[in-house]
Amino acid sequence: MKTFKIISLAGFMSFVLFSFTTIVQEEWKVPAKYVNMENPTDPSEDLDIGKSLYNKHCKSCHGKEGYGDGSKADEMEGDLGDFSSEEFQAQTDGELFYKTTFGRDDMPEYTKKISDDEDRWLVVNYMRTLAE
Ligand code: HEC
Repeated sequence: MKTFKIISLAGFMSFVLFSFTTIVQEEWKVPAKYVNMENPTDPSEDLDIGKSLYNKHCKSCHGKEGYGDGSKADEMEGDLGDFSSEEFQAQTDGELFYKTTFGRDDMPEYTKKISDDEDRWLVVNYMRTLAE
C-alpha cells in the first residue's frame, strides 16, 4: 500500500511539473538591433497591402482581429498572443518585425513566404490597426 502511495505521488508530481513547464512559456527575446530598428515605411500608406498579406498568411492562426482565434489556433503549442491588447501593442515595431520575420516553434518564419522586408513592415503597420 505504501509503495502504491509513493508511486501515485510521483506520478502526480511529474504531471504537475509537466503542466507547469508547458504552460509557462519562455520569454521571446528580441535582439537589441531589432528592438530599436526604425520602420522604413509610412504607417498610413499601403495599409491595404498589409491587410491582404495578413489575411493570406496570418489569419488562419491569429484570427481576423488578431485575438489568436484563427481556425488553426487550437493545434498550436505556443501562446498566440492577442494583437488587440495593450501588452502586445507596447512592443516596438522592430520587435513585431523580428517575430514576424523569424518566427519560433509553431510560429512560421516569413523570410521566404513574404520575402520583401518592406512587405513585412506593412504587416506590422496593419497589426497596429488591430489595437483596441
Ligand atoms: C501556423 C500558425 C501561425 C501562423 C500562420 C502565423 N503565426 Fe504568428 N504565432 C504563432 C504562434 C504559435 C505564436 C507563439 C510563438 C511562441 O511564442 O513561441 C505566434 C506568435 C506571433 C507573434 C508574437 C506575439 C506576441 O505576443 O508577442 C507575432 C508578432 C506574430 N505571431 C505575427 C504573425 C504574423 C504577422 C503572421 C503572418 C505573416 C503570423 N504570425 C502567422 C502561430 C502562427
